[in-house]
Amino acid sequence: MIIFALKLKHFMSTHPKRYTITAALPYTNGPIHIGHLAGVYVPADIYARYKRLTGNDVAFICGSDEHGVPITIKAKKEGVTPQDIVDKYHAIIKKSFVDFGITFDNYSRTSAKIHHDTAQEFFKTLNDKGEFIEETTEQLYDEEANQFLADRFVTGTCPKCGNEEAYGDQCESCGSSLNATDLINPKSAITGNVPTLKETKHWFLPLDKHEDFLKEWILKGHKKDWKPNVYGQVKSWIDDGLRPRAVTRDLDWGIPVPAPGGEGKVLYVWFDAPIGYISATKEWAAQEGKDWEPYWKDQDTKLVHFIGKDNIVFHCIIFPSMLKAEGSYILPDNVPANEFLNLEGNKLSTSKNWAVWLPDYLEDFPNQQDVLRYALTANAPESKDNDFTWKDFQARNNNELVAIFGNFINRVVVLTNKYYEGVVPKASEFSDIDNEVLAAIKAYPAVIESSIERYRFREASQELMNLARLGNKYLADEEPWKLIKTDEVRTKTIMFVALQIASALATLSEPFLPFTSIKLKKILRIALNNNVISTEGGTTNEESQKWSDISTKDILISSGHQIGKGELLFSKIEDKTIDAQLEKLEASKKANEAANKVIEPQKDLITFEDFTKLDMRVGTILEAEKMPKTKKLLILKVDTGIDTRTIVSGIAESFSPEEVVGKQVTVLVNLAPRKLRGVDSEGMILMTETPEGKLVFVNPDTAVKNGLQIS
Ligand code: 2FM
Ligand code: ZN
Repeated sequence: MIIFALKLKHFMSTHPKRYTITAALPYTNGPIHIGHLAGVYVPADIYARYKRLTGNDVAFICGSDEHGVPITIKAKKEGVTPQDIVDKYHAIIKKSFVDFGITFDNYSRTSAKIHHDTAQEFFKTLNDKGEFIEETTEQLYDEEANQFLADRFVTGTCPKCGNEEAYGDQCESCGSSLNATDLINPKSAITGNVPTLKETKHWFLPLDKHEDFLKEWILKGHKKDWKPNVYGQVKSWIDDGLRPRAVTRDLDWGIPVPAPGGEGKVLYVWFDAPIGYISATKEWAAQEGKDWEPYWKDQDTKLVHFIGKDNIVFHCIIFPSMLKAEGSYILPDNVPANEFLNLEGNKLSTSKNWAVWLPDYLEDFPNQQDVLRYALTANAPESKDNDFTWKDFQARNNNELVAIFGNFINRVVVLTNKYYEGVVPKASEFSDIDNEVLAAIKAYPAVIESSIERYRFREASQELMNLARLGNKYLADEEPWKLIKTDEVRTKTIMFVALQIASALATLSEPFLPFTSIKLKKILRIALNNNVISTEGGTTNEESQKWSDISTKDILISSGHQIGKGELLFSKIEDKTIDAQLEKLEASKKANEAANKVIEPQKDLITFEDFTKLDMRVGTILEAEKMPKTKKLLILKVDTGIDTRTIVSGIAESFSPEEVVGKQVTVLVNLAPRKLRGVDSEGMILMTETPEGKLVFVNPDTAVKNGLQIS
């Protein structure tokens, strides 16, 4: 590791640079879940924090993506306006980012005036330069809803991979970007109708015209160092040939098209959203009294887009073509897109409620943001889709954060307080092992940097953990708790060295475990730098420690420095906590299945005489017991008003026997008797199901006399 780090040294830049770091603007049609955090926001935040810590000029930019069809669909579903929806979720999402320590310099929103102005200006520039094709073409139309169908308003079969649930602008299965008219068997998502074709005028960005530039820039240029998943996708799209792409839509929610003939039309959400990065930078620069332009126009600025894999085409082909066509902007230096995170073996899904939502996580695990950040980073879907499991989350916490990082810090702090009343002791002569450890500390920043520079955040997080491992091993080998009895001088040196490791961890952990880093700095009384989450105060009696100090300074925490009392950084997560999360997911799955239960079509008509053949009565359950060796069946004794009889009912998974005794129910009394598991069942109890999948009785809403007929 040390040799590797030394080799790296020559390419590690020491010059401050300007970085514009963007994280995909989330759609404001729901809260944020762990997939968003793992795929985009945690890696982006690690990168931004690291770049700031290493002395660069950083603009870390994001905001809410408030246009587009998903928002309109959600608003329709909830019977409110799209503005209501975006206002609600913008606030929720923004809060989640603050809660999880995502340090955006600006979190804006695309409904902001500055964004509408910037996007319209961008469109006008391209239009004036003749960079669009204006064309009247036939587009899909829903006659019943009186609306053109684009994007998520239409689904159909993907012509490339056969996925039957592709959207009008993209197939999420194979990642292809589509035009709505490409879909086979299109169906309106509003009414379910088969669309007709209707003529309408739109503005198209001729991507084919930019093919040569894209080939030159990505394929022949230096983009081979892009992640293979990103480079491979982009190459295959370019190789397939690019076609003009409509950048306007016939919708009423979005940014009005600023051109003659554009009345009633809006900009395509994927035209305006990436421009949101620019408007958010402008908004931030104005607040900070800075000039926004160098962040987007200076060739020395590095532009890095953090996104999920479904956004690759937009960030690597469409947006760069727009920027190139405009002419005055820089192009992305890298687009480190991640693959998808699954949850307990299934695809994360907002609509199916198969997710761990950030606000829910914080309710169940208060102040444990770093545990989730760490578990998601250590298991990030960097090169392939990955699975989040609660068991893995528990293991990452218990076996790494608690047993390695937390344990090391706790030992160092407790022993320093116990032996020296919290004062860093004076070191005497260093042994070979001490010197090796001190050299290893110095090498760690370069090792972590090398991983981060290659966007390998999993690897980086493991290197950080290795430093804590080194600390634990050092203490276990040197055993200061034994040596204190025989060799006080040597013990002091050991504790001094251990404190240097603890101090290095306080700074090197900041990008990954920002809340822990603050806690640890407070315990060690290392000054907090300006980079920390602003609401936190700090006890400081030293200069703030810089990332570069770890590799350049011989002493990170000096003899005589007073540290504070210990505080547990992490605590063990018990099995029952994990089981509760698994049960929550199971319940959500059941609820979703019940909610999506297909409503059976009406059965064939019956006559009134047919109906009168059914003899349904009100009855009361007198006794109940479980049918031996079955999961579902209860044997009931029911007073039907006519008699007391035995009925076997499949309700044992929804009710215990005790719960049903005394309940008044509806009984089909003239159903021919059947033998169930050897017991004669004489009738049937009428039931239905709640959205959570629990069976419930269909019974009179007031107590009535047993035996009364249902008619
Ligand atoms: O996929 C999404 O959630 C989009 N809202 C991402 C937009 S990124 C950008 F271009 F703004
Ligand atoms: Zn497809």
